[in-house]
Amino acid sequence: MKKRPFIVANWKMNKTISECVDFVEEFLPLVSMVEDVDVALAPPFTSLTAVARALGPGRVSLAAQNMHWEESGAFTGEISPVMLRDAGCGYVIIGHSERRQYFGEGEGEVSRKVASALREGLVPILCVGETLGEREYGKTFEVVERQLRGALDGIVLESGAELVVAYEPVWAIGTGKTATPEEAQEVHHFIRGLLANIFGSESAGNTRILYGGSVKPDNAASLMGMADIDGGLVGGASLQPESFARIVKFRG
Ligand code: PGA
Repeated sequence: MKKRPFIVANWKMNKTISECVDFVEEFLPLVSMVEDVDVALAPPFTSLTAVARALGPGRVSLAAQNMHWEESGAFTGEISPVMLRDAGCGYVIIGHSERRQYFGEGEGEVSRKVASALREGLVPILCVGETLGEREYGKTFEVVERQLRGALDGIVLESGAELVVAYEPVWAIGTGKTATPEEAQEVHHFIRGLLANIFGSESAGNTRILYGGSVKPDNAASLMGMADIDGGLVGGASLQPESFARIVKFRG
């Protein structure tokens, strides 16, 4: 059965506090009639509190883009899961390919972050995905399996705990090149099978697997229509309220 779609805006290192608040004020009325889709915004850390306030107690959730795995301590420049909860976050993106590529995040860190987020009551949005070279060498499934098993090694999903997985082929991020719905579905189905192997089929069936990589208003419906695609993680096209609202309203 299709799950309730989940569409997440990843603003990356974009927008000042007032730009974030302006977005929320423009965006909320555009999606006020949408009831059957879950939505979250992931602004930069500096805007979390202001966005939480602007969103109010409504149906749009707040997500962070990264976190440290410790609760507190001598980690200059880092933000803890406790701080994210305090700022109003329900979700946190973990292991985005830009973190892996530019900040050297490896599987050990990603795994510690997933465990810590779950422990602190945040829902991790765990990102996995292959590079262009890996796809061309036929290594997509191998890479996705290594990343997923590496991140979830030793993780126990307590009843009621939620995990979200985002499949983001690195070659499709910010390039305008989307995986076709069929290409994405093939990997999503594979991920679902891995989750069933790791957590059992019930948890796997309940886990939402998002697609990310050049999701746009005009390709959202065909991607979301695939059996194992339960939503989207949207970068570039989430920066404008109008375009992100069109994605949230992909059903038309
Ligand atoms: P994009 O980014 O939509 O700009 O391709 C997606 C992401 O990196 O999460």
